[in-house]
Amino acid sequence: MRETHTIEHRQPTTIASPAETTPAPATRATEIVLPGVVEPGGLEVRHVPVPAPGPGEVLLAMEATGVSFAEQQMRRGKYYDQPPFPFVPGYDLVGRVAATGPGVDPALAGRRFAALTKTGGWASHVVVDAADLVAVPESVTSADAETLVVNGITAWQMLHRTAKVEAGDTVVVLGANGGVGSALVQLAGIAGVRVIGTASRRHHDKLRELGVTPVDYRDPDLRGRLRGLAPGGVRAVFDHVGGDGVVDSFRLLAPGGTLVSYGTASTRDVAGSSKAPVLKLFARLAMWNALPNSRHAHFFNIWAGRRRADAFRERLRADLGQVFALLAEGRLRPQVAARVPLSRAADAMRLAESGTVAGKVVLVPDGEERDGEPAPEA
Ligand SMILES: NC(=O)c1ccc[n+]([C@@H]2O[C@H](COP(=O)([O-])OP(=O)(O)OC[C@H]3O[C@@H](n4cnc5c(N)ncnc54)[C@H](OP(=O)(O)O)[C@@H]3O)[C@@H](O)[C@H]2O)c1
Repeated sequence: MRETHTIEHRQPTTIASPAETTPAPATRATEIVLPGVVEPGGLEVRHVPVPAPGPGEVLLAMEATGVSFAEQQMRRGKYYDQPPFPFVPGYDLVGRVAATGPGVDPALAGRRFAALTKTGGWASHVVVDAADLVAVPESVTSADAETLVVNGITAWQMLHRTAKVEAGDTVVVLGANGGVGSALVQLAGIAGVRVIGTASRRHHDKLRELGVTPVDYRDPDLRGRLRGLAPGGVRAVFDHVGGDGVVDSFRLLAPGGTLVSYGTASTRDVAGSSKAPVLKLFARLAMWNALPNSRHAHFFNIWAGRRRADAFRERLRADLGQVFALLAEGRLRPQVAARVPLSRAADAMRLAESGTVAGKVVLVPDGEERDGEPAPEA
């Protein structure tokens, strides 16, 4: 990974002391830049002045951020609406308020929050709108909370707002070992829902521990195996894979069932437009909904409804609040695959893409990777 030093456009600032034991306030921030379509080793480490929060904003000192599938797509230029290169990736983070901007309650300083950012989270210091903050219970670690920000919101909303599952239902979760997948299977279990989950064989024992019936997604007769486990069809299928396999997902539904499509992972490595696979998927879903088949097909988008900002934020705060409460009660098991220092984001990316991990690869401030698995070798 290359190291560069650049001047940031924002005014530099120092960080207010969040706690009694804080050493000298930081004046330099570290951020990871995605300069273009690159292999993980092409990510750049940049050192910049710590930015200052503007009106209505806070500065978060990052305690945990993570690698989502979105960054794997973005480094290939394959995320549906990614910003132009170069940019700082990072879909979400947990951090402590280090400074408040004009119009923000100064009492927020020192408190810990989560924020959904889509990009920008892979930095030691991140400016976010104060209105976007969601409180993190003090009893949970930042890394554990991080595993459930974008993943927890996505899983909760798909289960309870889109599919509206009920106790006694059976659902199919594709990629049950992934970040969203592992949140989905646990939240479904808590709701009394039976889960059939697809995953590579190496993850099956862990999934059984979570009460999931695992099926290998490389099984040539995957559809037959899933049918055999739920001959009458299932209440919902959660499909992030997309491609032609989504037809099989729709056919697994029982009458009244709902397909919740939420990604096109199968086209991550396919050359061409980032938008074409998604638009093809939308056309398919629209066609199924137009036909009289008593089944429903939805595309879930975590950012849907963002134009009505107040309602969007309220929903997000309520849903993530429920997820964090379950985490604090010990009913949700956070799946931290590894803690990796921010400056080694390239290693974190390689690990997340290796197909060997269960749960989320978490990035932590440099020097704070203790308590977890050792950082992977470059
Ligand atoms: N629509 C939204 O608002 C929204 C929000 C959040 C996430 N997402 C989507 O959710 C998906 C999962 O994200 P994540 O961060 O949880 O990713 P992740 O932790 O990397 O997990 C990805 C999972 O997908 C499996 N997988 C990968 N390629 C596959 C394929 N071709 N066929 C079947 N399974 C495959 C992986 O299995 P192995 O480990 O065996 O490779 C793994 O279980 C992504 O597609 C992402 O874009 C959508």
